[in-house]
Amino acid sequence: MAANLQVQLANQRDGMPEAGDFHVVEAPIPRPAPGQMLVRTVYLSLDPYVRKAIRGDHPGHKALVEGDVIYGRSVCRVVRSHDDSYKVGDYLVAETGWRQHAAIGPEKVVQRVDPSAGPLSAAIGALGMPGLTAWGSVEHLSLPSLGETLVVSAAAGPVGGCVGQLAKLRGARVVGIAGSPEKCDLVTKTYGFDECINYKEADWEEKLKTACPAGVDVYHDNVGGALLVDMAKHLSLYGRVVMCGRPADYHSSKFHGVGLGPFIGRRAKLYGLVVYDYEHDLERYLRLASAWMREGKLKIKEDRADRLENAPAHFLKLMHGENIGKSIVAVGPEKA
Ligand SMILES: NC(=O)c1ccc[n+]([C@@H]2O[C@H](COP(=O)([O-])OP(=O)(O)OC[C@H]3O[C@@H](n4cnc5c(N)ncnc54)[C@H](OP(=O)(O)O)[C@@H]3O)[C@@H](O)[C@H]2O)c1
Repeated sequence: MAANLQVQLANQRDGMPEAGDFHVVEAPIPRPAPGQMLVRTVYLSLDPYVRKAIRGDHPGHKALVEGDVIYGRSVCRVVRSHDDSYKVGDYLVAETGWRQHAAIGPEKVVQRVDPSAGPLSAAIGALGMPGLTAWGSVEHLSLPSLGETLVVSAAAGPVGGCVGQLAKLRGARVVGIAGSPEKCDLVTKTYGFDECINYKEADWEEKLKTACPAGVDVYHDNVGGALLVDMAKHLSLYGRVVMCGRPADYHSSKFHGVGLGPFIGRRAKLYGLVVYDYEHDLERYLRLASAWMREGKLKIKEDRADRLENAPAHFLKLMHGENIGKSIVAVGPEKA
């Protein structure tokens, strides 16, 4: 086993990525420069936006060229530090890229991790960016309340799962939309949603109508495309829609535009969500979410692979929508 593996781009492609677009190489463990620290990756986060970042279509990310290390955030542990604010042994979420070790400055640190707040890996899931995205949606934008119905797509994933659970904590009725019976089981039996509809079944809209007899007051959209348009006709008058993601469009510069006319008929209010807008509220969210997790009111599910070498295959699984839960790679031990 090499001391410091990393995953590099082998081919910049327009379209769905393939296994040959990545290669795993050995590299020396970097020396941190003055003001930097050396961190060791514990859990690498695989997220849909990484596909856009690789193409240079995500804020703050230049298009990668062959030989560049793939972008990514991880839960990592400080191994050596030339910055007094970070001590050896501290856990952080940082922009490390897909590497076992990285030399990073403080500007790459996204979040400090309190290991007593919950499972360490949750810092890239419900206790991190995906959880904060859900918080922004539910507590800052759509504010679902008792007597209202919220529907969320990609409901088995970390954002969708948190959106539904946070909405239930506010008293709303919550219905998930997901792509397989196994995902729907997770959504109702583990996350505790009232119902979950498999949108790959021909009669899914009939089932949705039955599940939401008074219409949909809030729709949190994680997928865009045809499903977003189809949902317009199920909205109640003056319904709210939070537009959060459109994974079908992440692979290519060709935009699959959607007709927004039906939203006019519903007098809908459409919100675009960007998680960075809620960073000021991260600490408050983490305090509450950590307590809810301890009390069993906020459940998580991970789709885990072991070892960095498996990151490309696991990423392709996410790209094909085959992940069940938060996609992560366990790269190294938590301690040691
Ligand atoms: N706006 C923001 O600031 C922000 C922040 C974080 C995340 N997001 C977005 O929120 C969404 C959910 O994120 P997440 O991390 O929780 O992801 P995720 O749910 O773990 O994974 C994406 C899921 O999307 C569904 N999907 C539908 N169409 C797809 C397609 N064409 N290709 C791939 N997957 C497809 C699949 O679930 P089904 O089989 O159930 O359809 C898939 O499992 C993503 O779109 C992400 O980019 C936005």
